Amino acid sequence: MDIIVSSACIISVHGNAKSIPQTRMDKAVLTLGSEEYELPLTVGSEREVGIDIRALRKESKAVTLDPGYGNTGSCESAVTYIDGENGALRYRGYSIEELAQKSSFVEVCYLLIYGELPTSAELDVMKHNLTHHSMLHEDMKKFFEGYPPSAHPMSVLSAMVSSLAAYYPDSEDPADLDLNIIRLIAKLKTIAAFSYKKSIGHPYVYPRNDLDYSEDFLQMMFAVPAEEYNVPTLLARTLDMLLILHADHEQNCSTSTVRMVGSSGADLFASISAGISALSGPLHGKANQEVISMLARIQADGGNYKKYLDKAKDKNDPFRLMGFGHRVYKNFDPRARVIKKTADQVLNDLGINDPLLAVAKHLETAALEDEYFVQRRLYPNVDFYSGILYRAMGIPTDMFTVMFAMGRMPGWIAQWVEMRNDPHNRIHRPRQIYTGATERAYVPMSERD
Ligand code: SDX
Repeated sequence: MDIIVSSACIISVHGNAKSIPQTRMDKAVLTLGSEEYELPLTVGSEREVGIDIRALRKESKAVTLDPGYGNTGSCESAVTYIDGENGALRYRGYSIEELAQKSSFVEVCYLLIYGELPTSAELDVMKHNLTHHSMLHEDMKKFFEGYPPSAHPMSVLSAMVSSLAAYYPDSEDPADLDLNIIRLIAKLKTIAAFSYKKSIGHPYVYPRNDLDYSEDFLQMMFAVPAEEYNVPTLLARTLDMLLILHADHEQNCSTSTVRMVGSSGADLFASISAGISALSGPLHGKANQEVISMLARIQADGGNYKKYLDKAKDKNDPFRLMGFGHRVYKNFDPRARVIKKTADQVLNDLGINDPLLAVAKHLETAALEDEYFVQRRLYPNVDFYSGILYRAMGIPTDMFTVMFAMGRMPGWIAQWVEMRNDPHNRIHRPRQIYTGATERAYVPMSERD
């Protein structure tokens, strides 16, 4: 059966494509066997075109097939825009480069969740709330005691966030939801730091209301009760910037998970706990941890870059260049550019000479000159250089993905709230093309042996 999809803007019939002026972008036409179906278009504010196939199944009984959702728009969203061809990323219209340079993480939280940059009064309220809700219920400390010191902090984080629902139940009242949003962001840094303290057997350090978000996290991580600890300004500012860079990335795996779980009506904490679990995979957030192992392995092996590029290219070898490639970016990930530049500056200012930074740069250069990576348009992504910065800040490797989760929190929340408020939201329920056995009679055990 020949299937031809044509739209009024780009008509593609038997391989002949021609452009029609934008004004005529009103529908697509799908030819399925001898039938034609008209499909409406949805055009976004950046002129992205979506072919709306909602009515297709009812009319034709056909479904679209797109494993991994590589070309499927799951929602309309006004939160984040990515132009993967040109390596551009914007939160609510503001470029990531400008936000990273001029904004603060708390301001970006406000922007993502409420849609606009805050006034100074609104920002003060947000800061006040985020500091005054940062303590954990004392009973929750007992949960940490149940985990072995070797527990990966992402497992602890996901379980703890899920447990918050037991203390702060879901409610129909928007004011309660607002408060739960604040609690979640405020308490996440406490949970993250406590899980680290627990893993090294140190006493927990409580949050302080006189410090801003990133400063407070650093003091909970690194302060020791018997000693004075002044948060280094450079580290606090660097962390704030890293959190901004990770704050949202439209419909990535963990965010889609948050929306998927939330679409059933599950509460905020349950939905975001699921997102944290999705982020923990090495193809997603855990890539930042994997990058460091990979760079250390290459260094220990004498810096033989070609050997590792060859392994990454070999389809029979599971090794891949971690921190490289992206579903959407077919150009530099703009976050990786900012992080690479910052890594140079911060390591220099701290007087740190991390040999893994040199290994990373050599590997990047070698990959970007290699035909395989050039052809597939594989560039460093956000995870390639972030670990170098976290290391310089003294953050242990298995906490890297937790740092990603802290940054991504406002994005997950903004997307969850947008989904909840969307009158068109339905429970997420993809279809499939069944490829298993057709109907057959049950075979009794006596006939199976
Ligand atoms: C994040 O989606 C987001 O927005 C995520 C994120 C966010 O902010 O939320 O940006 C954060 O998750 C960053 C990505 C972190 N993961 C890694 O760094 C792991 C290494 N990268 C890859 O495994 C891969 O590039 C993915 C998972 C990131 C993307 O996978 P895709 O889109 O399914 O691409 P693909 O695997 O189909 O790759 C296309 C081709 C394949 O070759 P061919 O079959 O065409 O010959 O490129 C090759 C792949 O084998 N390829 C790689 C490679 N990445 C892709 N080959 C070697 N090394 C790699 N890293």
